[in-house]
Amino acid sequence: MEKYQVKFMPDQQVIEVEKGTSLLKAASQAGIFIKSSCGGKGTCGACKVTVISGEAKSERTGNLSPEQLSRGVRLSCHTFVEGDLTVEVPPESRLQAHQVLLENANAALLTETSKDLLTYYGYHPLARKVNIRCSEPTLTDNAGDWARLSLELKRVLQSDKPLTIPLSVLQTLPETLRQAHWDLSVILTDLELGYTVLHVEPANDRPCYGLAIDVGTTTVVVYLVDLDSGEIVDKQGSYNKQAQFGDDVISRIVYAVDSKENMAEIQKAVVDTVNALIDGILERQSLTSQDIASAVIAGNTTMSQLFLGINPRYIRLEPYIPTVNSTPAVSAREIGLRLLPEALIHTYPSVASYVGGDIVSGALATDMANSDEIILFIDIGTNGEIVLGNKDWLVSCACSAGPCFEGGGILFGMRAMPGAIERVDIDPESLDVKLKVVGKIAPVGICGSGLVDCLAKLRKAGIIDRAGNFQLEHPSQSARIRATEDDKEFVLAWAHQAGGDKDIVISENDVKNLIRAKGAIYAGIRSLLQTVALEIDMIERIVIGGGFGNYLNVHDSVEIGLLPDLPQEKFEFIGNSSVKGARLALLSQKAWNEAADLARKMTYIELSIGTTFMDEFVSALFLPHTDLSLFPSVE
Ligand code: FES
Repeated sequence: MEKYQVKFMPDQQVIEVEKGTSLLKAASQAGIFIKSSCGGKGTCGACKVTVISGEAKSERTGNLSPEQLSRGVRLSCHTFVEGDLTVEVPPESRLQAHQVLLENANAALLTETSKDLLTYYGYHPLARKVNIRCSEPTLTDNAGDWARLSLELKRVLQSDKPLTIPLSVLQTLPETLRQAHWDLSVILTDLELGYTVLHVEPANDRPCYGLAIDVGTTTVVVYLVDLDSGEIVDKQGSYNKQAQFGDDVISRIVYAVDSKENMAEIQKAVVDTVNALIDGILERQSLTSQDIASAVIAGNTTMSQLFLGINPRYIRLEPYIPTVNSTPAVSAREIGLRLLPEALIHTYPSVASYVGGDIVSGALATDMANSDEIILFIDIGTNGEIVLGNKDWLVSCACSAGPCFEGGGILFGMRAMPGAIERVDIDPESLDVKLKVVGKIAPVGICGSGLVDCLAKLRKAGIIDRAGNFQLEHPSQSARIRATEDDKEFVLAWAHQAGGDKDIVISENDVKNLIRAKGAIYAGIRSLLQTVALEIDMIERIVIGGGFGNYLNVHDSVEIGLLPDLPQEKFEFIGNSSVKGARLALLSQKAWNEAADLARKMTYIELSIGTTFMDEFVSALFLPHTDLSLFPSVE
């Protein structure tokens, strides 16, 4: 097969690929990650690049204008290498490499339950390090090396639990023991069923670490945790490199099940994401992978299966069955993670195809399983997952909210990163706009919290009616409300304020998408309540988790009918509940056992059965709702 060179600009990255390779794939091979919201179907337009020179064949041009085409703009997913090429990848088409925002805007409202829970469950990390001194063998004391080591370990550990050692550690054991003069540090797993020696080295006082990992569809977050003190030593997040195969789990599944090669590629993308985060942390902390003895991973069911290389095909086909809900621990070596090779990776158990380990982890971190109070736990992302209950019962569901709150399907939608509008104020008379932008720079788009705020303010100012229809005849006569060829829109920032060549707008179509998304979440809440015959005011606490929840304004969320109209003091934010639950399990064997019980105890309600959800959804397609008695505080 003929091969050609593709040079990516402005990175100056050159890669040799076979003729016919898509530019999207070539960029990924060159380490440049291009947005691919539709997973390469040629429908989203997110993957635009500019062919500066050379031969390329485009099979689909989407809605690119003649002017863009004449400048060489192409959809990278449907443009194929035909000769040596130079291609420019613009900033807006790149998956940003910058850090995911780890800080929490709602810090004052954050619950500290996970801290208390560690005391409640008891400190007992899933791996630990012990220092021991073995007696040296002699002609009269000629027990084998492993017998000698295990005898001393059992004495120090004071436990009858079985003790095992994998072959790979045995293979290096004789030399290690003698080089260390029998003065040893031994790193081992400490699980209910027994101990396994992971690593033996000369005695030292270096701490032993573990990782709590949240593998999200959009972002991946890693906490480095000192297993002796329980402290979070470092944390880092980034976008999941799988995003090049589509924004949501369905696009990822479609890509993965297409071929064995695709499956391997998509698994490698997430493993590479985690490894890059680990590398960054290790470098900052002057550690090596040998210092990390354990990891707990929490992710939705598809992410967990893809991480482990398990075919996710049946998750998306009726009756939506995952391959496994509770996975046995696997070694870092098997997965290719850069920890101690024999370190065990524990994956949080899931409940069903669309209520995964991240929700079980989050529910553990909210302490629902021990609470007398009725708690509603909501994780708002592409899929709004909801759990309702207390220590006696738990019900859960997933409602497909779509990617709006993460910026998907919205004209100027983006994730919460520098340049994203996060707060909007609109003067109801003049329609003048004040914006708060992440990073205090010129706005480039609007993120989830900004969209919620914007929707509330558009309605308050009479720019839209309760159904989301634009009111072109607004008394202000403001030029900000205008009709386009096929839509209506409101200008949030003029092009000169945005530092670009386009006004930043929110369109009627965006508004309708947002109403559908908020309607799906509210309908999910109401459907769960109906399942257990409870009314909204019987909810005693509402705990909001997930990255988007971090920045959510409760007042605006109630105003648009996304969250129930309950007193502000009932709302709590838990931040990234998934990684919090992962840390809890990493540090407490009892908490880890409880997670398995929690997953078993949670009853999954399939919303597509019956008409309850659909009826509730249709009623929720107004601002805030068709039944205003549900929102007494909203004017
Ligand atoms: Fe290329 Fe969507 S149009 S990835």
